Amino acid sequence: MIDSASQSAAHQVDLLDLRVVAIEVALGWGIRMKRWMTFTILTGALLMTTLAPLGATPDATPAPAATKKTFGKTPGGQPVDLYVLTNKNGAEASITNFGGALVTLKMPDRNGKLADLILGFDNVDGYVADKSYFGALVGRYGNRIGHAQFVLDGKTYTLAKNNGENTLHGGIKGFNKALWTAKILPAKGGQSLELGYVSKDGEEGFPGNLKVTVIYTLTDANALKIEYSATTDKKTVVNLTNHAYFNLAGQGSGDILGHLLTIQADQFTPVDSGLIPTGELRDLMGTPFDFRKPTAIGARIDQADEQLKLGGGYDHNFVLRMTMDHGESLAARVVEPTSGRVMEVWTTEPGIQFYTGNFLDGKTVGKGGATYPKRNAFCLETQHFPDSPNQSKFPSVVLNPGETYHTVTTYKFSVEK
Ligand code: GLA
Repeated sequence: MIDSASQSAAHQVDLLDLRVVAIEVALGWGIRMKRWMTFTILTGALLMTTLAPLGATPDATPAPAATKKTFGKTPGGQPVDLYVLTNKNGAEASITNFGGALVTLKMPDRNGKLADLILGFDNVDGYVADKSYFGALVGRYGNRIGHAQFVLDGKTYTLAKNNGENTLHGGIKGFNKALWTAKILPAKGGQSLELGYVSKDGEEGFPGNLKVTVIYTLTDANALKIEYSATTDKKTVVNLTNHAYFNLAGQGSGDILGHLLTIQADQFTPVDSGLIPTGELRDLMGTPFDFRKPTAIGARIDQADEQLKLGGGYDHNFVLRMTMDHGESLAARVVEPTSGRVMEVWTTEPGIQFYTGNFLDGKTVGKGGATYPKRNAFCLETQHFPDSPNQSKFPSVVLNPGETYHTVTTYKFSVEK
C-alpha cells in the first residue's frame, strides 16, 4: 500500500514534469514525439490519481438523512416541525414532534402507485384538537387503567380520569399532547428520527421521572421500525405504543371491512362495559375473534356477540403467540385485495389492540379535506395488556430504577399480485 505522503509527492513531480514538457514541446519536432509520449503517460497517470477516489469508493458518500419543515405552532406559540423520511422506492414516513405523531405513511400498491395509508391532519392544529390519537405516540400507559388507580409496593396511585371512571392512553394530557425533542440521525440502513420526552414525577398521577426515547426508522425494504426506550428514577408502570389508523387502500378511501386480517393469537382478553379486561384469557377458537386464518375484518363484525357489542366492533387486546424469531414476532398480517398492499406487524410486545375505528364519526376533517367515518381505518396497537397494573396474572408492566424499558415494533409493507 502506498502511503498518502508519497502519493502526493509523486503527484507534485508529475505536475512539474508536465510544465517541463510544455516548454520543451516548443523546442523542436525531434524531441516532440518522445516528449508527447511522456506527456500522454503523465496525463493519464494524473487523471487516474485524480479520479480514482471518485470511482473506487462510491460507498463512502453518506446516504441522505431525513429532512425537516415547519408544521405550525402550538396554542402557546411554540414552533412545531414535520420530519420527512424517504427511501429509494419513493416511500415516505413523516413525523411531527407534537405528540410524536406519524403524520403520513406513503407506500406503493401492486402497480407501484403510492398512497398515504394513515389518517391524520395537514398541520399541527388538527393534532392539538384531536381526540382520536391519530398516529400518536401513546404513554405513559397505552389503553385503559381501571378506576384510574393502581397499587405499587402498598401505595395507591390515583391517576387523571379521562374515560369515564378510567384512565385512557396516559390521562388528560398524555404523551400525544407533549412537544418532544427531535434529532435527525445519520442515515444507516434507512432514515431515522429520534424523539425524546421527559415525563415528570407525578404527571397525570404516575410516579417517577420517566425519560423516554423513541426512534422511527424508514428502511429501503419499505419497513417502518419504531423502537421505544425508557428509564425511571422511581418504580413506575410503562406501556408505550403508536396509535396509527391504517387504511391500506389509502386514507379517506372508504371503510376497511374488506381488508383480510390474520392475527397470531389463540386467546384474547374479554372486557367489561367500561372496556376494562375482566382478567380472563379467553380461547378465541370458533368465535368472531378467530383471525388465525386470513378473514375479512367485516365478515363477522356485526354478529350478535356480547364482546363485539361491548366494543361497538373490535376493540380488544389479543394475546400474541410470541415466537420471537428475528428478535420480534409476527403479530398480524393485513392484505387489501384491490391495491394488493400487504402490511405485517412484527413486535417484541405480548399483546396487540385490534380496534376498528368504532368511535370515528365522520365529522373530523383530515388530510387533504378527507373525512373519516366509522370503520374507515383500523389500528393494530402493539402493547402490554390493558389494565395490567391491576391484573396480577397479566405480564408485568413495572419498571424499576436501573432498568431500561425497550420494545420494538416494525410495520413491513409489500404487495401481492
Ligand atoms: C384505543 C381504545 C379505543 C379508543 C381508541 C381511541 O384503541 O381501545 O377504545 O379509545 O383507542 O379512540
